[in-house]
Amino acid sequence: MDTHKRVNWFHNLFSLAILFMFLGNAKSSNGFNAPESGQFELTVEEVDSHLPYSSANQGIYQMNDMEEDAWEMVQKKGTQFVVDDQPFYVNGFNTYWLMVFAADQSTRGKVTEVFQQASSVGLTVCRTWAFNDGQWRALQKSPGVYDEDVFKALDFVVSDARKYKMRLILSLSNNWEAYGGKAQYVKWGKAAGLNLTSDDDFFSHPTLRSYYKAHVKTVLNRVNTLTNITYKDDPTIFAWELMNEPRCTSDPSGDKLQSWIQEMAVHIKSMDAKHLVEIGLEGFYGPSAPDRAKFNPNTYATQVGTDFIRNHQTLGVDFASVHIYADSWISQTISDAHIEFTKSWMEAHIEDAEKYLDMPVIFAEFGVSTKDPGYNSSFRDTMFSTVYKTLLNSTKKGGSGGGSLLWQLFPDGTDYMDDGYAIVLSKSPSTSNLISLHSTRLAIFNSMCSWKCKWGCRKKNALETFLYHDDL
Ligand SMILES: *[C@@H]1O[C@H](CO)[C@@H](O)[C@H](O)[C@H]1NC(C)=O
Ligand SMILES: *[C@@H]1O[C@H](CO)[C@@H](O)[C@H](O)[C@H]1NC(C)=O
Ligand SMILES: *[C@@H]1O[C@H](CO)[C@@H](O)[C@H](O)[C@H]1NC(C)=O
Ligand SMILES: *[C@@H]1O[C@H](CO)[C@@H](O)[C@H](O)[C@H]1NC(C)=O
Repeated sequence: MDTHKRVNWFHNLFSLAILFMFLGNAKSSNGFNAPESGQFELTVEEVDSHLPYSSANQGIYQMNDMEEDAWEMVQKKGTQFVVDDQPFYVNGFNTYWLMVFAADQSTRGKVTEVFQQASSVGLTVCRTWAFNDGQWRALQKSPGVYDEDVFKALDFVVSDARKYKMRLILSLSNNWEAYGGKAQYVKWGKAAGLNLTSDDDFFSHPTLRSYYKAHVKTVLNRVNTLTNITYKDDPTIFAWELMNEPRCTSDPSGDKLQSWIQEMAVHIKSMDAKHLVEIGLEGFYGPSAPDRAKFNPNTYATQVGTDFIRNHQTLGVDFASVHIYADSWISQTISDAHIEFTKSWMEAHIEDAEKYLDMPVIFAEFGVSTKDPGYNSSFRDTMFSTVYKTLLNSTKKGGSGGGSLLWQLFPDGTDYMDDGYAIVLSKSPSTSNLISLHSTRLAIFNSMCSWKCKWGCRKKNALETFLYHDDL
């Protein structure tokens, strides 16, 4: 369906939504004063001013006027994210290389491009790396030694995100060797004369723990040279992530990683009580929940020293993260089993987050590689709609499904960086439409409540009917 029709349809929906909201509130005493008579008659222009999109607005994502001034920290309230007490459901993306691209004038423009393109389809959160240890264009050249030019590049990423009303999840290290990660910390340790035998010593050796803690401290206390805002006070930062995809295969009991998570989550909170913290896990079930192991993609997943439920029951951890890679975990060849896995994997974690964790869950990486045997773009679209619909099923119940971040969004002209999972919006019209539609749906949930209505009131049920019309 073309954009113009969609926008018209959305006008109608929004008018109805607002009407239901007013009717609902007029009959309840949920902290909202019944509107004066006459306020029910909203004109199309008034409705339009609260729309996140219009056909005339292809550029920067326009926030609700009422929220224009405020740029508050994202917080957690029970199983939901909130901003200034209003729900904040996330449609977001990953682009890991922003800092390194920003470090060179010749590629810096790509950072702005990706934010601009992301905001044009309503994406509001970007997950990216706030580490690069000992490699080319390293942020941290050696323990405690930083390249100021690269730090300024990270400053640019943070200040540019703000311009596009984009929140950032900043990851602080890597399980894998790309950009240094735990292997680089172990190399540094060996160079300092430590007796280290495994990359997992990153998690247990006191000296390596102190290197990591010092890195975290440096990033949190960084004063952005472009905005003068200290990172730990900057609402542009949605959350800190301890590590990208931590695994500790040397200790399948999970104790070694658990102890590291406990120490590091509290370390961050002791310096920065305002920001949310998440671990960066892929979400595998471990020894603490044998009955959940059936949801794992394979039997190996229980052996990697991670434990979704136990790891997230840690003081200082605010929300859960899960990744979804049916192709690399089940079989590289595309099949319907990938879709079934995705749905049950998501539903299981959403249920855990409600039952055992009392926190929101973000599906922080999901995607499919164009290099997979049997791949075609309609399969990718099926995968994306499965993720989005499963989340909406949670959202409409006020459940724990807090959002998703696709892996990964690239601007035009960066194909040489593509690992197969990259989406370039201009080259993927059908996927772009799906992303846009999901943003629009979430924006209704998020902005509906900017009228200070409360979940559980009747208008929510009235809205479901409209949100679930699939013939868009
Ligand atoms: C190094 O550590 C290993 C394992 O902890 C141990 O077996 C070995 O004896 C140690 N080597 C030295 C030189 O201390
Ligand atoms: C940051 O602070 C410096 C020194 O106080 C000041 O000169 C500069 O104008 C400030 N920049 C911004 C963007 O506020
Ligand atoms: C796309 O791939 C899926 C899964 O391999 C297959 O079922 C479907 O028929 C393909 N569609 C097209 C249009 O090729
Ligand atoms: C969402 O919920 C509806 C109604 O319960 C169900 O029919 C549908 O299969 C669910 N969709 C997904 C993707 O979970």
